[in-house]
Amino acid sequence: MKNILEAPFLIEMVRTTTNMYAHGWDERNGGNISLLLDEAEVKEYLDANTVLRTISTGFKAPELEGKYFLVTGTGKYFKNVQYAPEVNLGLVRIVDGGENAELLWGYADGGKFTSEFPAHMMSHVARRKVNPENRVVMHCHPANLLAMTYVHDLDSRAFTRTLWQMCTECIVVFPDGVNVLPWMLCGTNEIGVATAKEMETARLVVWSQHGIYGAGADLDETFGLIETAEKAAEIYMKIAHLPLKTTITDAQMHLLEAHFGVKAREGWLEP
Ligand code: 13P
Ligand code: ZN
Repeated sequence: MKNILEAPFLIEMVRTTTNMYAHGWDERNGGNISLLLDEAEVKEYLDANTVLRTISTGFKAPELEGKYFLVTGTGKYFKNVQYAPEVNLGLVRIVDGGENAELLWGYADGGKFTSEFPAHMMSHVARRKVNPENRVVMHCHPANLLAMTYVHDLDSRAFTRTLWQMCTECIVVFPDGVNVLPWMLCGTNEIGVATAKEMETARLVVWSQHGIYGAGADLDETFGLIETAEKAAEIYMKIAHLPLKTTITDAQMHLLEAHFGVKAREGWLEP
């Protein structure tokens, strides 16, 4: 059996949590990540028949039956993942139609997966229907996106159009836009269902006055999505109180679409 601490998926998870903390997106225990793993890859590093504990999830997700996820622990600090991955992360297999998760490695202090597990698992189901290659769901609290939800209209189209206008390449990176949810109680199945619904049409979902969810094929892509949206929000927060002299027009956005071979969300640009 190979050493799981040397597994590429574990190294990448440690690097990503460390980097997110360094970006200031994950104060204290803020934020959480779930990464879908290949069964064959998992079995190189551990005996999948040895279940350490079974943890109840409180929801159903039959589409994920038998799937393996590396998930950050609830209450754990991203800044500490690099020093004690086995305490701050866990590797689970979804069983019983999603109602239980079998712990195969990690949560070594008796902990469990993030309190946002419903939003993560339901979002995986939603995104994999759109893109079967989706493997990552990432949640964090970037300051500028959060700040924007206090001063900007929360309509998803209006919010997205503002972000697209803040940096030329935004529309190229997230042509599907950003969906915005109003404030909701976090850590519940209800916010999980609402987030997954929004994930049907966009890979970024803002939780007003809380943070953002991103989904993607790998950790790099998902990090990059959030990073780009957060940069745009930062520019918005720098200029929103100043008289606007110019912006990126919809005609220019159409040039970007043609040049980069992307298609903006239907109806979100003027023709
Ligand atoms: P967890 O510590 O349970 O992952 O919660 C952090 C968070 O960001 C809740 O939204
Ligand atoms: Zn949060």
